[in-house]
Amino acid sequence: MNILVLGSGGREHTFTHQIAKSPKCGALYVAPGNAGTAKIATNLPIGVTDFQSIKTAVLDHNIDMVVVGPEDPLVQGIYDYFKSDDQLAQIMIIGPSAAGAALEGSKERAKEFMSAHGIPTAAYASFTQETLAQGKAFLETLNPPYVLKADGLAAGKGVLILQDLDQAKSELEAMLAHAKFGAASAKVVIEEFLDGIELSVFVLTDGQNYKVLPTAKDYKRIGEGDQGLNTGGMGAVSPVPFASSDFMEKIETRIVKPTVAGIKKEGLVYQGFIFIGLIKVGDDPFVIEYNVRMGDPETEVVLPRIKTDLLELLQATANGQLDQMTLEVTQESAATIMAVSGGYPEAYEKGKTIHGLDQVDQGVVFHAGTALDSGDVVTSGGRVLAVTSLDEEFRQAIKKSYQTLSKISFDKMYYRKDIGFDL
Ligand code: AMP
Ligand code: GLY
Repeated sequence: MNILVLGSGGREHTFTHQIAKSPKCGALYVAPGNAGTAKIATNLPIGVTDFQSIKTAVLDHNIDMVVVGPEDPLVQGIYDYFKSDDQLAQIMIIGPSAAGAALEGSKERAKEFMSAHGIPTAAYASFTQETLAQGKAFLETLNPPYVLKADGLAAGKGVLILQDLDQAKSELEAMLAHAKFGAASAKVVIEEFLDGIELSVFVLTDGQNYKVLPTAKDYKRIGEGDQGLNTGGMGAVSPVPFASSDFMEKIETRIVKPTVAGIKKEGLVYQGFIFIGLIKVGDDPFVIEYNVRMGDPETEVVLPRIKTDLLELLQATANGQLDQMTLEVTQESAATIMAVSGGYPEAYEKGKTIHGLDQVDQGVVFHAGTALDSGDVVTSGGRVLAVTSLDEEFRQAIKKSYQTLSKISFDKMYYRKDIGFDL
């Protein structure tokens, strides 16, 4: 099979790395990819939402399967674009239809879905500019902290958690009346605050059957001790040590099963990943969000633990035959640490030469924001490298990743030294 992976981050390098191992993998392409994917596949200079150019590439290279990394092309309907085109309709796409992707594309839609199917989540109400006054009145009925969520995609920045009622009201107004997050905040979901510890569960579904993939926990804040600004993710571990088998059973019964059943019942075409963001409140799981793709950097710890041929799993997903697959997962733990550009998640410089990659003798260095510049690997993004290691003992896996990172350097490189500190 010839495969095209869409995206350019650590997640997509990990997919490419795992797919390349499959005996079923023929020619392997990534669009647009990075310096890491260039080593194991052919990068194509095409943006992930440029459907017309993706179509041309798919036909030119006889692609059999497209694996969609990020949410944007899914929410914009890449699945439907393929299925409604005579030349593309037979090609396997890993990712939901636009109707399925709305579970991530609209927070309100996700909340309505959860209510309709009895899936535990925080109580909520949603408001628009017309109902701003009611929104402010609703805030007055809640206890702090106040959780405000822009309805649409806002590159991970659309959620505000505020202690102060007046500030919550003025932020609500900024979102609804002054387009704080552009069109994404034309509608705002206000939610009850859930106090607990977060984890993520990943599910692969063909729309009928599903497999629960390994759990992961990511570290979103830039600073040690979970301080400072939110980032795309500074590191991750899998499995999550506090996700006991009892707790996982609750997640499967109360959340995963009703989610897949809801997808089926509503007739949503969904052949791909569901990333369920959860909070454990006491001993009970609640959904904070659905994403319709894998997480980044969670992919960098989840996929390396899957022993089953990834390409076979994806093929079974596209063919509605996931029930015929057995998912094998290693008992080893995985840890990934993200090295980022100094300044990230605010302004940072690019184009710094990365040294030491050839010194690495354990684990895998997944590239996130890298490019090739006359043969040198240079930085090209905020998150630059994700260093993944496996070990029987998760602290040892973390330690190995730090050992590997100590061999790598670039100007103003930064990484958190405390990944796993809370576990
Ligand atoms: P989201 O983009 O929905 O994942 O939200 C971003 C972050 O906000 C989550 O990872 C949580 O840390 C936090 N968050 C979202 N919703 C809630 C909630 N209802 N209660 C507490 N924290 C929340
Ligand atoms: N690491 C969080 C995400 O991928 O959304």
